[in-house]
Amino acid sequence: MNIVKAELASVAVKPEQYPDTGWPEVAFVGKSNVGKSSLINAMLGRKRLARTSQHPGKTRTINFYTVEDQLYFVDLPGYGYAKVSKSESEKWGTMIEGYLRNRETLKRVFLLLDIRHEPSANDKLLYEWFAHYEQPVTLVATKSDKVSRNQKAQYLAVIRKALGEEMPPLAFSSETRDGRDALWTQILDNCGLAML
Ligand code: GTP
Ligand code: MG
Repeated sequence: MNIVKAELASVAVKPEQYPDTGWPEVAFVGKSNVGKSSLINAMLGRKRLARTSQHPGKTRTINFYTVEDQLYFVDLPGYGYAKVSKSESEKWGTMIEGYLRNRETLKRVFLLLDIRHEPSANDKLLYEWFAHYEQPVTLVATKSDKVSRNQKAQYLAVIRKALGEEMPPLAFSSETRDGRDALWTQILDNCGLAML
């Protein structure tokens, strides 16, 4: 997939700032530093469209990216970032929950987990929160380049079992582009789009 047009459309902290074109969108959630912004760049074939950092807590707002003027990718702030105060993490909760619960054009949520680690307590809480609201999510195991090819299935199974999922997560790497085509297929399917 070669993306010609991708732009930052809106930086939002409240619903009035969300775009209102009605285009379908997909959102990427997960712990700080798991690779949400990097995944967006890799999917869109851009180096620095979404700002990334080796320090957790880089993305602090809800960022909407237009893709070929047909859909949005939504980059969300990460959770579980130790330096954030309690009041700030509560603000995170309110802002993200409000977005995830009420956004009508949101077609699918992708929950990102580092392939090397067992899901954290916060990952599990979020996963169960989606189950409670019967909101389907797709699990993506990021940084797959960090494990050897023959260990990949084992790592995916650890995540799958910890969350009680039937299907293993989709392995993805922003470095090698592992999983990029498979993820594009899922995104387009969920948005009801053929090729862009
Ligand atoms: P917050 O905005 O803080 O929530 O983080 P984020 O989830 O957006 O993470 P970000 O994309 O900024 O990436 C965090 C760090 O992980 C950066 O140093 C990236 O270079 C690195 N990283 C992201 N994806 C990959 C990957 O697939 N492989 C490897 N090796 N490193 C990655
Ligand atoms: Mg980010």
